[in-house]
Amino acid sequence: MILPLRLIPRVAAAAARLTPAASCAPTLLPPRRARLLPALAMAAAAYSAGSGVGRRLLFRQLFEAESSTYTYLLADVADPDKPAVLIDPVDRTVDRDLNLIKELGLKLVYAMNTHVHADHITGTGLLKAKLPGVKSVISKASGAKADHFVDHGDKIHFGNLFLEVRATPGHTAGCVTYVTGDADGQPSPRMAFTGDALLIRACGRTDFQGGSPDQLYESVHSQASMQNLIFTLPKDTLLYPAHDYKGFTVSTVEEEVAYNARLTKDKETFKGIMDNLNLRYPKMIDVAVPANLVCGIQDPPPKI
Ligand SMILES: [Fe+2]
Repeated sequence: MILPLRLIPRVAAAAARLTPAASCAPTLLPPRRARLLPALAMAAAAYSAGSGVGRRLLFRQLFEAESSTYTYLLADVADPDKPAVLIDPVDRTVDRDLNLIKELGLKLVYAMNTHVHADHITGTGLLKAKLPGVKSVISKASGAKADHFVDHGDKIHFGNLFLEVRATPGHTAGCVTYVTGDADGQPSPRMAFTGDALLIRACGRTDFQGGSPDQLYESVHSQASMQNLIFTLPKDTLLYPAHDYKGFTVSTVEEEVAYNARLTKDKETFKGIMDNLNLRYPKMIDVAVPANLVCGIQDPPPKI
């Protein structure tokens, strides 16, 4: 499915000027950092990606401290409308995000979730109420309400950029990973927003919301319908999780294939690890899940 708000495609004169890493790396990396592993150096450069002149992608990684959630802002700033998407917004930080969007002159088109979160309330309902015209997006398999439902293989366009949808169930039954497009004019290296399917050196728990360690392992390792999931994406793909609890911000496929503490194991060992985590019942789950099934708020007023 191609979402209806796709803007008129422009001639892709932008291939050479879009990447989050390429044009800024030499100036952003100090000499000492330039000696890091290529993947680490690339990740550091991408994290610093901004809205420099001549670059198509504007990218911001935003943090909500109480639930250690990352929200991602992506925009096509080469398009006159500067259409933007927010991935995994949090209700507590909606005003911060809206202020940033306003300061940068962006037009928020989609507020998207990787899954129905259990540890915080999504900001999508508030965003829709405060910024009429914004559409919410979540997977059909999530069972949540939204304006647009996506399935594996769908594309979400904003300007001349797009995200591809990968079904990566296992943390919840409806988890998806959003991956930047594989085409001329799209970010290089690619960027994958993995939600809780893959965390840096870890992964989301699998003991509620239809979770399944077996399914999560397959979501990360397998190749489905000729479309790469996570570990089969190019090794320089930048991985951006929905959370981090240790201060990490970004990883790569190459790093996680080598160092992920759980997902580098064979499937049976992985299932044993996940079945014996003995985690506490999530303190927000009874509030967050019902709210997130309806965009975060039950009946948004027309304007807040
Ligand atoms: Fe989650």
